[in-house]
Amino acid sequence: MRTTKWESTSRNQTIERGRLIGLKLQAGTKIALIGTLGSGKTTFVKGLGLGLGVTDEREVKSPTFVIFHIYKGRIPLYHFDLYRFHESTNIEDIGLDEFIDDPNAISVVEWADRIPRISKQADIVIELSKRGETGRTIRMKERGR
Ligand SMILES: Nc1ncnc2c1ncn2[C@@H]1O[C@H](COP(=O)(O)OP(=O)(O)O)[C@@H](O)[C@H]1O
Ligand SMILES: [Mg+2]
Repeated sequence: MRTTKWESTSRNQTIERGRLIGLKLQAGTKIALIGTLGSGKTTFVKGLGLGLGVTDEREVKSPTFVIFHIYKGRIPLYHFDLYRFHESTNIEDIGLDEFIDDPNAISVVEWADRIPRISKQADIVIELSKRGETGRTIRMKERGR
């Protein structure tokens, strides 16, 4: 497992970090996002979308009121938010695993730690932590496939 760490001092820097990572992603990659409310998970996903060439007229925003959004890019981006999920939710029962495991898409899951199975299966785990009003530490762990 390889760990990389960056310090972000602005929203734009977090977007740019997401963009740079998004440029290099390959289809089938599962990304778990971990961090408290306001730590910058959705902001980071905006950057991933830019890096993946998401041209959707809808801007990437939090899918809190639906289970996930699909964006068309170089590779389709599935953006999940499990904020309202509990550990006991069986993602197979609601058919979510078929999307998360799609080998032709990239899945990025906010609040992935709410369902341990998802964070365990992720290829990349990104943890965002707040440091003051605009400081964020971004830690990326990559699992070798
Ligand atoms: N360095 C930074 N990186 C990301 N967001 C930041 C940063 N500094 C301030 N912010 C603000 O923090 C908030 C992050 O919100 P959001 O990305 O929706 O977080 P989450 O999805 O983790 O709840 C936004 O209002 C953003 O403008
Ligand atoms: Mg969010």
